[in-house]
Amino acid sequence: MDYKQHIAIVEDWPKEGVRFKDITPLMDNGKAFKSAIDEIVEYAKSLNIDLIVGPEARGFIVGCPVSYALEVGFAPVRKEGKLPRETIKVDYGLEYGKNVLTLHKDAIKPGQRVLITDDLLATGGTIEATIKLVEELGGVVAGCAFLIELTYLHGRDKLEGHDVLTLMQY
Ligand code: PRP
Repeated sequence: MDYKQHIAIVEDWPKEGVRFKDITPLMDNGKAFKSAIDEIVEYAKSLNIDLIVGPEARGFIVGCPVSYALEVGFAPVRKEGKLPRETIKVDYGLEYGKNVLTLHKDAIKPGQRVLITDDLLATGGTIEATIKLVEELGGVVAGCAFLIELTYLHGRDKLEGHDVLTLMQY
């Protein structure tokens, strides 16, 4: 399916020089959204995963329907101060800014095979930080799935050695 027809490109948002890729038209189209999620479900099946981990906020949108379809759990990675129980944390750099990501300490059992999901792979900072959190808890990152990859930002370089699926490339 041509998913790109359902992506809105917003110039100079959230700041000048950024061409923001808005996935909400894709989410708004039931058939297209289901087709995209189904592709990630098939990918996840091939990896034999135990758990999905996705970073706030759009990693939830991609990961939760996959988790539901496969009857595996979903663990949210959140910005600092959002998770209520004991967490581990990691600093990361963004395409536009800096932040801290956290994960509940008991979210992953050692040896669990994890699929990481997000809407977009840009510089790869968010996913690199998410991988660190998963591995710190003893999880095995079996794969990473994204709707969109901005190839010109070379995020894949940070994911070397990991299996990566992206449905659209810009
Ligand atoms: C965006 C996007 C990815 C990340 C990609 O999220 O949803 O998570 O940036 O960029 P990177 O590959 O350069 O790290 P954002 O941090 O804006 O958070 P939000 O989804 O909570 O708005």
